[in-house]
Amino acid sequence: MSTLAIIGGTGLSRMEGLTIERREMVKTPFGAPSCPIIFGEYSGKSVAFLARHGSKHQIPPHQINYCANLWALHSVGIERIVAVGAVGGIAENCSPGSIVVPDQIIDYTHGRENSFYDGTHGLNGVNVKAIEFSEPYDATLREKLIKGGDASGQTIVSEGTYGVSSGPRLETAAEVLRMERDGCTVVGMTGMPEAALARELEIAYACCAVVVTKAAGKAGPVDTNALPAAVESGMKNVRQVLDKALAIL
Ligand code: HPA
Repeated sequence: MSTLAIIGGTGLSRMEGLTIERREMVKTPFGAPSCPIIFGEYSGKSVAFLARHGSKHQIPPHQINYCANLWALHSVGIERIVAVGAVGGIAENCSPGSIVVPDQIIDYTHGRENSFYDGTHGLNGVNVKAIEFSEPYDATLREKLIKGGDASGQTIVSEGTYGVSSGPRLETAAEVLRMERDGCTVVGMTGMPEAALARELEIAYACCAVVVTKAAGKAGPVDTNALPAAVESGMKNVRQVLDKALAIL
C-alpha cells in the first residue's frame, strides 16, 4: 500500500493520469472529509489522492474540514503528503506559471478548527500539546519536489514564505503590502491548518504552490475572469513536476 498522498487543490480536483484502483470514504471523529480518498497509480507509483475542495470543487477554502481530511489520510496509513495549491505571487520572482516550494508559513487565517489538540479529541491519549513547528515543511520531500521540478523544466522557486489568508475573498492591496513587509512571497487560502495538522499526526508534508495570478495590487486588481484559465495552465505545470518528482518520491 502506498504511504504517499497528493492533496489536490483548485484546478486539481481530479488527477489526470491516475489509474484508479479503489475509492474509500473514511469516517472520522471530525465528520466527513472533502471526498473519498482515491487509491491508484500515477507515473508508475502507488499514490492516494484527496481533492481538498471536494470532487466537484464545491467546498470553499474557509469551509474545508481540514481535521477530517488529515485524519482520514492518517487513518489509511498515509505517511507523506504533497499538497498542491493555487496562490497569488507577491515576490517579484513569483510570476504566473511558476511553482513555489515554500519553506515557511505565516498563518493569517481565523475561525478554522486548527488542531487535534483541542482539549477534547487529542491524540494518543494526550489532549493538550504544543507541537514543534519552526520548520513547517518536510526537508526531504521539499528537496525531491525541487529536484523533480528542475528536471521537468518548469520554473521552480525553491524557497519562500506562504502567507495563508482566510478567504474566500481575495486580499486588499494593503493586506498584500503588509504580507510583503512580513516576508511573504506568495499568498493562498489553504496552506493552514493543513500543514500543522499533518505535523500533529507526524505526517511528512510539503507544498507545491502554483502561482496563478499576481497578488492584489502587485499588477493592479486581480483579474478574476482570467483565473480559471490561469489555474488550468498552472496545474499543467504542476502535473509535469509531479511526473518527475514521483519517480524519486
Ligand atoms: N490570494 C489568495 N489566494 C489565491 C490568490 C490570491 O491572490 N491567487 C490564487 N489563489
